[in-house]
Amino acid sequence: MIVAILSDVHSNGDALEAVLESARTEGCDTYWCLGDVVGYGAEPDRVVDRVRELGAVTVAGNHDWAACGKVSTRQFNKNAALAAAWTATNTRKDNLEWLAALPLVETRDHTRLVHATPSAPEEWNYCMRIDDAWIEMKSFEEMICMIGHSHYPGVFEKDGDEIRYTRAPSLRLREGRQYLVNVGSVGQPRDGDPRAAYAVHDTESGLLRHVRVTYDVEAAQAKILAAGLPPFLASRLAAGD
Ligand SMILES: [Fe+2]
Repeated sequence: MIVAILSDVHSNGDALEAVLESARTEGCDTYWCLGDVVGYGAEPDRVVDRVRELGAVTVAGNHDWAACGKVSTRQFNKNAALAAAWTATNTRKDNLEWLAALPLVETRDHTRLVHATPSAPEEWNYCMRIDDAWIEMKSFEEMICMIGHSHYPGVFEKDGDEIRYTRAPSLRLREGRQYLVNVGSVGQPRDGDPRAAYAVHDTESGLLRHVRVTYDVEAAQAKILAAGLPPFLASRLAAGD
């Protein structure tokens, strides 16, 4: 099985199409989506329709549930809260219902899928440091847990009583070790690289690759501005921050 793992699409239809084109070239036959399908960007229906069409196994992100009123935006910054309110009124009812019904956790092929952290999926915490990873890696039994949420791709690898962190573009996942993989963000990367990010996992060979894809950033920005969304949500796409 060759799996494309996507996260944090954030209503960026142009980035999603470029990633799906790349995934076809990579020979991906399975799609997993780690949440935050919507929020920030201007094309919620386009991306939700596409993810539904793909039949991607999908878990809920905080922005997905904010758009359908299941998560309060009190903890959101101003731009995120404005975007959530805009998304709530600019997304078809059937797509909002689909987002509301997403589970917090799924498990497929020895891999746990969750948007934020496996220890407390509904608290929307971040796992950024080795200290965080020690807590998180005690909270799942599978060999691999895939997450998004921080928009920052990287891998924690637990080997015996050591946890290492790597941002290497490819890594072979080995039996007997445990992995916490952040696949980065399709629609709003925040690691200084504006290209869309996703991961490809060959479950036979164990090879995991972080893939970056150039897309039409200006087209996505123009749609955000035309929708009346906060201009910062457009400008940050060019900076990748
Ligand atoms: Fe996100």
